[in-house]
Amino acid sequence: MFNNFVYQNPVKVIFGKGQIAQLDKQLPKEAKILLTYGGGSIFKNGVYEQVKQALKGRQVIEFGGIEANPTYETLMKAVEIGKKENIDFLLAVGGGSVLDGTKFIAAAIPYEGDDAWQLVTGKARIKTAIPLGAVLTLPATGSEMNFFAVISRKETHQKKGMGNPLLYPVFSVLDPETTYSLPQHQVANGIADAFTHVMEQYMTYPVNAEIQDRMAESTLQTLIAVAPKTLENPTDYEARANFMWAATVALNGFMGVGVPQDWATHEIGHELTAFHGIDHGRTLATVLPHLMRIKKDEKRGKLIQYAQRVWNLHGTDDELVEGAIQKTIDFYESLGVPTKASAYGVGHETIEKIVQRFKDNNVKLGERGDITPDVVGEILEMSIA
Ligand code: NZQ
Ligand code: ZN
Repeated sequence: MFNNFVYQNPVKVIFGKGQIAQLDKQLPKEAKILLTYGGGSIFKNGVYEQVKQALKGRQVIEFGGIEANPTYETLMKAVEIGKKENIDFLLAVGGGSVLDGTKFIAAAIPYEGDDAWQLVTGKARIKTAIPLGAVLTLPATGSEMNFFAVISRKETHQKKGMGNPLLYPVFSVLDPETTYSLPQHQVANGIADAFTHVMEQYMTYPVNAEIQDRMAESTLQTLIAVAPKTLENPTDYEARANFMWAATVALNGFMGVGVPQDWATHEIGHELTAFHGIDHGRTLATVLPHLMRIKKDEKRGKLIQYAQRVWNLHGTDDELVEGAIQKTIDFYESLGVPTKASAYGVGHETIEKIVQRFKDNNVKLGERGDITPDVVGEILEMSIA
C-alpha cells in the first residue's frame, strides 16, 4: 500500500556555471565562518580561489584534511577549533565526505556531552546544530540536499550513518564545471552510488506509487544515458549537469516518499569500506547484484517492471528477472566498477567478521527486515565465488 508520508526539504539549491559567486549573498554578513575541505583537490581546480573571492572581507577560518570516508578522529579537531573560535557558520567545499564530515562538526560543536561519537550512534540526541552551507564538487551522495552523514571511526573499524533535519545544508552550490577535474574512477564511483541510491528506494515491492516509480525509472535511465558520455568527455557540460542533478535527485528524499526502501546494499557496503577501505560507490556494485539474485522471489514484481521499463527487455517473467540482474551487472562493469568483492581481496574471514558484527547487533536488513546476518553472509559469499 502507498504509505503515508510527510515531506519537507528546506535546502536552497543554487545550480549552474559560475554560481560560487553567489556565496556572498547566501552567507550572513557578520558570520564567523569555518571553511572545511578535503585533501586539496580544491586548490588544483580553481574552486578554492572562486570561494575565497566570494568570501572577500569576511572572517574565515579554514580546516582542511577531511579524508574520504571522514573520520571521527579528524573531525574532532575541527570541532575543537569551532568551539574555541566561536564559529557560527560552516561552509563545506568538496565531495560527500567533506559535506558529511561538516554535518557532524555542525552537530558536535554545540554538543555539551563528553562523547560526541554518541551523536553518530544515536545514543545522544542532536538538539541543535551550527548552520552549514555547501559547495559540491563531486556528484554522488546527495549529501548536498539531504540531512544524512556517514562517519567512520578508525580506532574501531566502524562506519555509521547519522541523520537529523537540523543537518540539512541551508544552501548548496552545484556548479558542474567544478567536477571537470574529477578522476575517471571518482566519476564512475559517483554514477554507481547515485544509481544504487535509486535502486535502494525502488527495487523492493510494488505499492502503486506511480510518481515514485516513474521518477526512479527516469533517473535510472538518465544515469544510464549520461554515464558513457560524461566518462568519455568530462567537459561536456550538458552531460555533467545532467549527471550532477540526477545524483542530487537520487537522494534528496523525494524519490523515497510513500514507498518501501531496502538499504541493505548500503549497510553491507559500509562494512566493506570499514574493513577493506573500498570506495563507497564500489562496495555497492559488489553487493546489489547478488542481493537481487538471492531476493529475486521477494523482489519479483519490481524486477520485472525494472527490466521492462528501464531496460526495455521482452520475454517471459523468468527471462525478465534474469535480464534485470544481468543488465545491472553489465551497467556497473561498463563503468569499470567490478561486481565481485573478490576483486578487492575480500575473503571468508571478512565475511565472517561482518556476519558476526550484524549478529551481535541483532541487525535485520531490507524492506521486509528479512535479510538476516546469515543472508548477508550468503550475499557476500556469492560476491567472492
Ligand atoms: O579530498 P579531496 O582532495 O577534495 O579529493 C576528493 C577525494 O579524494 C576527490 N574529489 C572531490 N571532488 C573533486 C575531487 N577530485 C578532483 N576534482 C574534484 N572536483 O574525490 C575523492 C573522493 O571524495 P569523497 O567526498 O570521499 O567522495 P563521495 O562524494 O563519493 O563521498 C563518499 C562518502 O559519502 C558517504 C560515503 O559513505 C562516503 O563516506 N555517503 C553519504 C551519503 C549521504 N550523506 O547521504 C549517502 C551515501 O550513500 C554515502 O554513504
Ligand atoms: Zn551511497
